[in-house]
Amino acid sequence: MPFPHLLHGGDYNPEQWIRTPEVWDEDFRLMKLAGCNAISLGIFAWAMLEPEEGRFELGWMDTIFDKAEENGVQVILATPGGARPAWMPLKYPEVLRVDQYGRRQKWGGRHNHCFTSPVYREKCQIINAKLAERYGQRPNLILWHVNNEYSGECHCDLCQDAFRAFLRGRYHDDLDQLNHAWWSTFWSHTISDWSQIEPPSKIGETQVHGHTLDWKRFITHQTIDCFRSESEPLRRITPHVPITTNLMMGGFTDVDYYKLADACDVVSWDSYPSYHDRSDDWLGPLGAVWTSFIHSQRRAMKDKPFLLMESAPAMQNYKPVCKLKRPGLHAVEALQAVGHGSDSVLYFQWRKSRGGVEKFHGAVVDHYASEHVRTFREVAELGKALAKLDGVVGTNAQPEVAFIYDYENRWALNEAAGPINGKKDKDYDGVVREHYRPFWSNGIGVDVISQDHDFANYKLIVAPMLYMIRPGVGERLERFVTGGGTLVTTFFSGVVDESDLCFLNGFPGPLRKLMGVRAEETDTLYDDESVAIVSSRKNGAGLSGKYAAAQWCDLIHAEGAKVLASYGGEFYKGWPALTVNAHGRGRAYYIASRNDARFHDDFYDHLVRQLGLSRALGVTLPEGVTAVVRGGYVFVLGFNRADVKVNLSARAFRDVLSGKRVSGKVVLPRYSAMVLEPVAKTQARPPTPRRAGSRANRGRRPATSPAR
Ligand code: GLA
Ligand code: ZN
Repeated sequence: MPFPHLLHGGDYNPEQWIRTPEVWDEDFRLMKLAGCNAISLGIFAWAMLEPEEGRFELGWMDTIFDKAEENGVQVILATPGGARPAWMPLKYPEVLRVDQYGRRQKWGGRHNHCFTSPVYREKCQIINAKLAERYGQRPNLILWHVNNEYSGECHCDLCQDAFRAFLRGRYHDDLDQLNHAWWSTFWSHTISDWSQIEPPSKIGETQVHGHTLDWKRFITHQTIDCFRSESEPLRRITPHVPITTNLMMGGFTDVDYYKLADACDVVSWDSYPSYHDRSDDWLGPLGAVWTSFIHSQRRAMKDKPFLLMESAPAMQNYKPVCKLKRPGLHAVEALQAVGHGSDSVLYFQWRKSRGGVEKFHGAVVDHYASEHVRTFREVAELGKALAKLDGVVGTNAQPEVAFIYDYENRWALNEAAGPINGKKDKDYDGVVREHYRPFWSNGIGVDVISQDHDFANYKLIVAPMLYMIRPGVGERLERFVTGGGTLVTTFFSGVVDESDLCFLNGFPGPLRKLMGVRAEETDTLYDDESVAIVSSRKNGAGLSGKYAAAQWCDLIHAEGAKVLASYGGEFYKGWPALTVNAHGRGRAYYIASRNDARFHDDFYDHLVRQLGLSRALGVTLPEGVTAVVRGGYVFVLGFNRADVKVNLSARAFRDVLSGKRVSGKVVLPRYSAMVLEPVAKTQARPPTPRRAGSRANRGRRPATSPAR
């Protein structure tokens, strides 16, 4: 996008205020005050754009475009497919979804179209073409925002037929291949005609894992197909305008977002962390650590900056207790996105709705529509800060570390009955987070990738619970290690293939030779149980003394790997708990159990030093603080409820936000951030911005980048 500043603004729904257009003028006055330069327009405006089938009313949108242009505000124009006007389903019921019980849904809600329906697709194309024809040449149109947060599934006849066609393609029209992949002889589930296949349903089949996995793959496939169909008129009429669709918050994993991202020109997503719940703001399931992780995934998806398309400038109204955002946190959260690769800070929404389910959702402009309120002031403050950061726009990162976090793997893990079930399920996200946290605390940026991603550019790949290994991935990991890379994987890895069929001849399946271990059995523990892990003397992995393992314990045999720690209890006392295998020029670590935080700190801190991985500030940061480098700036982000001291090491910086020079030990007040620009001892040196694009240009260790 040819825009030289960070985008600041967000979802703008002027159609809600069409009866009082003076509000629109006030909006643009306030946008200026808040330092907002972008709006996402028309996301749920279909009923106002096409009040009757084929009758279009775009006058009000013309006015908004004019006002935006007069005020220097960029427009991200949405296509309105996220919610259909009432006339459509009443005339064409096929646009409505059918649920897994076979019930056609009624009109209402949103995000509930059948993504196969030819009528829905056609109606989307008509309105999208209208928008593209009318606004495609507007100078302030910078991006298409297609639909909204694609999600869900439909079981109508059209979708069922499309599912069968998808399967015919996948299995080369050969039912025998399908029956093998689904292991359908179990419980007499052999399919003898394609017409017998139905989607998973609670009143039908949910336990044939190959079937469930293929259904999930189909949902991704069909979602992308629908997205492409909606995008078709935009690509045809406005080939110069890039296209995105906003991905949902980090906890949403029903669509394989790596694949959806491939179909977009720009990745954008909606981040709604859960701050101020009972746990620390940085640690929880939707805390700051996880948010950094997902930002890193969004950036790595296209190896270029992404957009933060939605975030809450104040309270988000769907949490169990909707705490107000504590002062300062909003800026930290926004700068966290920018530091991790976002070229925008956009909100849901600009002005608070007067009615409807989101009337209490935080917005930049409150019901008391004044600039003299805390939220507005904080947004305006942030607007000033973002205006100082033109230097980061378009810059990328080149992490030395990658995490494999794979949707199909997650689906397969969570489907499996055993070896642990219950409320936490397999807790893939929790395990991944535990392994990622030491990198966050060390200020080490990561790429978050699927197992299909190129591995060549990393020094270290961490692949927790790599349960499913698709064809070729074992070999590619082997090549990565042979070439000098370091691989870390854990318990319950290399168990099934892409159809969820267990590998025969020993786990971790295709990784067995590379890891130099064989997992014979996997024990699981109750929440209140643990087993000691005893580090070997001279383990060379930074471990000392004992640690505790919980929930998962693989019982492994070393087959060439060196044992670095062993179990200290249970009937498997003395069995290996951590191993390393030298392979080619690299090494492969197998962590056999789910270990405590101290284990992860010791193990990864040592690995970081051993591999010479570059840390944003060259130090381990206090709890609740991370640092990330982008475009030569160091973003120091504090998510603590109390002030902490941060050691900036011996280097001198200028804090771009405060303008002050800082060095040595500084106090980072509660919920606050610094954006540090390195300065030479005698004179200030501006950072060298690096643009995204060629890998060589990815901003790796620029002249001004911080020391290891
Ligand atoms: C989602 C949607 C928005 C809005 C917000 C509320 O991200 O895309 O329309 O509902 O949630 O947090
Ligand atoms: Zn359908």
